[in-house]
Amino acid sequence: MASTNQTAQAEPVAETSKSAKLGGIIASGELEFLMEAHDGLSAKIVEEAGFKGIWASGLAMSAALGVRDSNEASWTQVLEMLEFMSDSARIPILVDGDTGYGNFNNMRRVVRKLCQRQIAGICIEDKLFPKTNSFIGEGQPLADMDEFCGKIKAGKDSQTEPSFCIVARVEALISGWGMEEALRRAEAYRQAGADAILIHSKQNEPSEIFQFLSEWDNRGPVIIVPTTYFQTPTDEFRKAGVSVVIWANHNLRASISAMREISSQIQRDQAISGVENTIASVQDVFGLAGNNELAEAERLYLPTRQPQPKAVILAASRGAELGELTNDRPKCMIDIRGKPLLHRLVSTLNQGGVRQITVVRGYKKEMINLPNISTVNNDAYAESGELATLASAENCLEGETLIAYGDILFRQSVLDELLKAEGDIVLIADAMWRDRDPDPKSRTRDLIACTVPFNNDFLDEAPVHLKQIGPDLEPTKIDAEWIGLAKLSPAGTGALRTRLLDMNSEPGRENAGMVDLFQNLADGGHAIRVIYAAGQWLDVDNARDLAEARKFL
Ligand code: SPV
Ligand code: MG
Repeated sequence: MASTNQTAQAEPVAETSKSAKLGGIIASGELEFLMEAHDGLSAKIVEEAGFKGIWASGLAMSAALGVRDSNEASWTQVLEMLEFMSDSARIPILVDGDTGYGNFNNMRRVVRKLCQRQIAGICIEDKLFPKTNSFIGEGQPLADMDEFCGKIKAGKDSQTEPSFCIVARVEALISGWGMEEALRRAEAYRQAGADAILIHSKQNEPSEIFQFLSEWDNRGPVIIVPTTYFQTPTDEFRKAGVSVVIWANHNLRASISAMREISSQIQRDQAISGVENTIASVQDVFGLAGNNELAEAERLYLPTRQPQPKAVILAASRGAELGELTNDRPKCMIDIRGKPLLHRLVSTLNQGGVRQITVVRGYKKEMINLPNISTVNNDAYAESGELATLASAENCLEGETLIAYGDILFRQSVLDELLKAEGDIVLIADAMWRDRDPDPKSRTRDLIACTVPFNNDFLDEAPVHLKQIGPDLEPTKIDAEWIGLAKLSPAGTGALRTRLLDMNSEPGRENAGMVDLFQNLADGGHAIRVIYAAGQWLDVDNARDLAEARKFL
């Protein structure tokens, strides 16, 4: 029909409803097929296989729930399964509604609920509630024909989806009432408004089905379930004018065989190695469940979580200046008021949100055994320097990274300052270095000369950069002392890692330290940012430091 829409915007094209799709299958004029499914997963598999529609078999759904096909599962329990199936597949579902779960009134409510859940149609059979599967016993009682016609009419009058399909299933042949009764009932149900007739047979050959079809003479669509006359070539159904063939229970039966086989093999082998290559992969399960869509939706709707920085702590050296205290443990494990120094350092990092911590061990490595840290080892710690120790953690040098010496303590505020600082390589340095000890040579100190001296003006936010770092700076040039804590952006980590590996492979650099690495990076043109701190930290080199550390807490 030509559009009368005057606006420029195109009308959204409504997707064909599932009931309209099922109606199309039933009335296509070609032989069509519905495949059994009994839960969300099997519904997906039926769709994936290319079927146009699903038969939600009462037998299969009951069996999947571990109950009999005798209305032992309530109709609302069936409805819940159908909801999962309908959500799982875009193709329409014809539900096996047994006898309609009661009289016309129950049928009305069931039809309304099915329409609400986009279930495309229901098939009801002219037997009595609670039903018995058609393949059990002989001479099952049939419903009163007129009462059943009322049920069909009530269903049709209650549907809220215009194309909802009601299929009337004739059980006269199953119950031994004969062909004439089957045809009489089929005609009555057609006139009552049924969208199709399902003529059921439990014979192992199709003659009564073909006789029915011949006498029915295309008065309306006919559906069949050739479970027992399975050997009949499908083309014969096509020639006989069948509208839809239902493959009624084959996914259920296939899954029973597969599950039996796998369970007994695993029970026998007490191992799963023999079955791994014979079953669907876990990735396949994720694929069927639609995990890709969830990952995409997470990108759309979840706030992007900032990756948390990791930390590498260099803790390979003994700390010989501490004498006996480091006879049995490295200095990072010396007790500071009840807890090892490293424990305190790790807690401070954790509180700042740094949870992934790798400690490089060396001397008495077995003593470094804190929970919640990973460890790597520099077993050549005695003959090598800090760069060799850092290189032992090479695999951790990726993404935003903190690097810390293992013998330092600092206030939380110092870490917070560093974490919020911008820059690819950022060092935090103590501008009050003289307060610790005015003698720059009192020990090996990582002294720093910067582009801008510390000026105590909190409004001055001009970035400060490293010019020179090392133990031997000319005293007039010293602006601060590096506290042994650095932060690197992902790019900074990458640059540092490259330089580190280069330097480490150069002969004569065996004892190179962190300051050599930073100097090398600065000389190579990398901007190394310096954040000034004012005290609030210490390192533990000797007994006096240890006493300070105990006071620091
Ligand atoms: C079902 O699949 O539950 C059916 C078909 O009703 S039959 O089992 O053949 O009765
Ligand atoms: Mg059934």
